[in-house]
This record gives sequence, C-alpha cells and structure tokens, in this order.
Amino acid sequence: MVFDREPGEQLPFHDREVDPAHAGAAEPSRDARIRHLQRVPLFSGFEESDLRRVSDLARIVELPAGSVVTHIGEPGDSFFVLIDGTVTVRTPVGAGSQLHPGDFFGEMSLLDGEPRSATIVAATDLRLLIVDRAHFWRLMDETPDLIRSILTILSRRVRSLEQTVHAMVHGTNPV
Ligand code: CMP
Repeated sequence: MVFDREPGEQLPFHDREVDPAHAGAAEPSRDARIRHLQRVPLFSGFEESDLRRVSDLARIVELPAGSVVTHIGEPGDSFFVLIDGTVTVRTPVGAGSQLHPGDFFGEMSLLDGEPRSATIVAATDLRLLIVDRAHFWRLMDETPDLIRSILTILSRRVRSLEQTVHAMVHGTNPV
C-alpha cells in the first residue's frame, strides 16, 4: 500500500493538489513569510530584496500529517519548498525516500509539463512555500541562484536514480 491509510480512506487533499482554501492556517503576514524564508537553506544567499520577491510570488501553507501533496501520474501546477516538516517520496522505483526542511519538490512537472513523477505524502505536519506555475518561471528568471540550486539537486536525483537502477539490475551496490 503506497499511502499510510486504510484502503478507501480519504486523506485531506486526496482529489486535488494543495489548495490554501482547504489548508489549516491563515496566510502569514509578509514579514512573517520573509522570516520563514530566511530559515530555508535554499535561499541562504538571497538578499532581502530577493526574499521579498520570492515572498510576493509565493504563498505559505500549513498542512497536517498524512496530507497527499502530489499524486503520481496526475497533472501538477505547483512548486513546493519545505519550510518545516518531513515528506515521504514514493516513485516507481524508490520505496519512500524522505525530504526535509530546505528541500524542494514539484519542479519536474513545471519544467517539462509531464504528470507528477512521484506521490509525496506529509510524514509530519508541514509548512510549505508554494509557487504556482504562473509565477514559477518569473521566479526562475529573477533569481538565477534558484535555477542553479534546482539544477544541482536534479543532477543528484538522476545520479541517485541511476545507482538505484544499477543495484536493481545487478543485485549489487554500484561502485
Ligand atoms: P514532480 O514530478 O513535479 O512531482 C513529484 C516530485 O517528486 C518531483 O517533481 C520531484 O520534485 C520529486 N521527486 C521525484 N523523484 C524524486 C527522487 N528520486 N528523490 C526525491 N524527490 C523526487
């Protein structure tokens, strides 16, 4: 069973991606949003003006443990940065790696327009920064450091995946 639930049990956000109208907490003030962003390593080199730009193009949402944030095979329209909490990633080959504060996800569907490549479930209560498709490319254009970070992490994920596939095919650990 992929999800941490009984068959047929409906998790919050089961039918849709995260929608702030259904999330637990009110949107924090701009100052509070920037204080959250200052804690995220992904934005560590950012000037205050860059953080303000991120804050203006994104929103912050809190979700309870068990929420399904992305569904494999479904269309995806948001990019997520994990501010607080842990999520579990289920891919067709990976059995449940975890992402932690400062990690991001959801970039692949925005980059290539394909459906979600993984199901991501909140292992704990979460605080997420969410950037919608409409703002994603503007954010990329305006913050080249973010592009570099995303490319670096994507490269690591490809390497990790190649090692996993190698181990599956050969039944050994790759060198
Ligand atoms: P996307 O395909 O848009 O939605 C699911 C997300 O899971 C995907 O973007 C990546 O951000 C993330 N993801 C996919 N594969 C992995 C992986 N092997 N390790 C960590 N995160 C992943």
